[in-house]
Amino acid sequence: MSIFQVKSVEEIMAESHERGHKLPRVLGSFDVTMIGIGAIIGAGIFAMLGEAAVKGGAGPSLIISIILTAIACGFAALCYAELAAMVPISGSAYTYAYATMGELVAWIIGWDLILEYAIGNVAVAISWSGYFNDFLRSAFGFGIPLWLRMDYHTFLKSGADIASVPHLFGFPVVCNLLAVSIVAFLTWLLVIGIKESTRFNSVMVTVKLLVLAVFVCVGIYYFDPKNWVPFAPGGWKGIQVGAAYIFFAYIGFDAVSTVAEETRDPQKNMPIGIIGSLIICTFVYILVTVALTGMMPFTEMKDKIAEPLVAGLQYNHAGRWLIGLVSLGAVAANTAVLLVFQMGQPRIFFSMSRDGLLPQYFARVHPKYKTPHITTIWTGIFVAVFSSFFSLDVMAELCNIGTLFAFIVVCAGVIVLRVKDPDRPRPFRVPGGYVTPALGIFFCVFLMLGLGFMTWLRFIIWLAAGLVIYIFYGYNNSRLRTGDLALNKETPGHKK
Ligand code: ALA
Repeated sequence: MSIFQVKSVEEIMAESHERGHKLPRVLGSFDVTMIGIGAIIGAGIFAMLGEAAVKGGAGPSLIISIILTAIACGFAALCYAELAAMVPISGSAYTYAYATMGELVAWIIGWDLILEYAIGNVAVAISWSGYFNDFLRSAFGFGIPLWLRMDYHTFLKSGADIASVPHLFGFPVVCNLLAVSIVAFLTWLLVIGIKESTRFNSVMVTVKLLVLAVFVCVGIYYFDPKNWVPFAPGGWKGIQVGAAYIFFAYIGFDAVSTVAEETRDPQKNMPIGIIGSLIICTFVYILVTVALTGMMPFTEMKDKIAEPLVAGLQYNHAGRWLIGLVSLGAVAANTAVLLVFQMGQPRIFFSMSRDGLLPQYFARVHPKYKTPHITTIWTGIFVAVFSSFFSLDVMAELCNIGTLFAFIVVCAGVIVLRVKDPDRPRPFRVPGGYVTPALGIFFCVFLMLGLGFMTWLRFIIWLAAGLVIYIFYGYNNSRLRTGDLALNKETPGHKK
């Protein structure tokens, strides 16, 4: 059987109903939209806005970058919505690739999604620890020592004295214990139940939206039209670079599709969750960017580039309590992103293991909590270890390239399935025929080409490592290839 063997949509659906491999459907449209917002608004808007405005010279024209990125993500979101409504299975892009381009591409995408979910989470956990420390300082007047809240290289770059940190067996102890703590807490929460986790997510989402609303009101109060002159100091190039940076802020709407299997009426609720959360977040991002660029000259942001919202408040001498409030909002935002990504990754592993591409051990569902606890715990360990020793920028760029690649495969998947299976009922159809997914691919390639050489190199090494694992494990154990599937092979759409 070929490595390009596809699994029909019917097979995928039937297999998910096998005993012992089933997750309960408990989420409604509100829950999934909150999951989307939870995953989207985080380090991107609270930390990368400054980089995007200053580095490429976008300045106030970052508003246009935000809209352009939203349009690009919109194409991908529509494609995700079509596939998630048609194949409501927890594996997201991995499952769609299996149904459209075959097992090898599915494996590559499943492996690639680790970059989006787990590595993305490493970046967010690192950012979380920075903001949490800021919050402690502004609210209680004390912080966590530097050597317990960053990796070794960032510590050295900060100019701090390495001789001052405790040593163990002659080696300096520098690790991001704060990041490890939040990852450990969320892993525990996700093991005890998805409903509990989504409730927690809804609280975090409410806090971050309220804090951003307060920020927008303050920004509009201090708005000075002079700060918008010149509007686009970096021209089109600045707008384009700004868009590439701010892409990170939009990652997450696709995470909604990983809980498709736990969603009631997914044919209706998946498109609502994916597209609804993207629209709401775009609206929030535009308002925040208008407020920020209007309340201070963007050039003044460079001294506090990782905390642009705090920079805006300080520039206008806003009260200390407001700075504490924004730090709290950033902590809540990053916590929600962490939670949803930490929820998505195990569900993708779960699907891959159910297909035999990873050991069956990973497909176990907890007898009492009904969650994929094994994969949840392994994801937690992976993210905790990486976040204590790696730096934010490297992890964020890897996350971007991996996510863009997955978006491309999903857009291509819509085209392939329309050609191969045109008559199959589609509860949600991407408008515009092939044009929308083709534009999605075009935009994603464009953004990928904007990423640096080292990121490309790491990405290629990562994919090569995945290929080796497939050759030695997945190729021999795939349930589709070994014939260990519940359905007969004559279902419509199934190609041998
Ligand atoms: N979009 C997510 C964030 O901004 C990854 O943190």
